[in-house]
Amino acid sequence: MTVIAVDGPAASGKGTIARALAAHFGLPWLDTGLLYRAVGVSVLRADGDPDDPVDALAGCDFPDILLDDPELRSETAGTYASRVSVHPVVRAALIERQKAFADQPGGAVLDGRDIGTVIAPHAHAKLFVEASAEARADRRYRDEVQDNPDADRAAILADIEARDRRDSERASAPLKRADDADLLDTTNLTISAAVQRAIALVEARTGKR
Ligand code: DC
Repeated sequence: MTVIAVDGPAASGKGTIARALAAHFGLPWLDTGLLYRAVGVSVLRADGDPDDPVDALAGCDFPDILLDDPELRSETAGTYASRVSVHPVVRAALIERQKAFADQPGGAVLDGRDIGTVIAPHAHAKLFVEASAEARADRRYRDEVQDNPDADRAAILADIEARDRRDSERASAPLKRADDADLLDTTNLTISAAVQRAIALVEARTGKR
């Protein structure tokens, strides 16, 4: 059984890396950000206030089918997710589902903000994936401009910096590198180089290939 925890800020590449690790090691993968995004979108659709813990908690009661909704990938969903995720009641409502996924027989890969610190502190390998805010804004911009020629790089950078601050400075389970996590800085790495490096780090920790 191998449990792999992948944490890091928005647009660091952690989702791509987690998915590739899951494929390489033959493990199921959970993108925990999607759960918070589903809460955020539920609050948005109910015209609720993501900063109000009562409205945010009501959003936790979402149907599983919502996890497949493309709206979850939007910037608005990301911002709402970051805002609802500040509330301890929301984190508590989502914790069991994530812990159960991490503890399934055979192991799992999970990515998020608090996997190595709170959800799976016992993980066999932990990666903390980072990249400069500038590099992350460039990646987002290159993605967005394909659909929207008016995409605004400065606004994207401001959004990333605001999200970093909110996710790292909240009192409950903030984004933070676990003491025993390996740092993987993807600022100057291609996707495939970052994935190769991640596989090597996990192999070194687990002895598994
Ligand atoms: O990884 P993501 O961008 O999809 O996450 C969206 C937001 O959800 C993120 O800004 C903070 C929150 N989140 C969290 O608080 N804890 C997690 N384990 C995953 C995401």
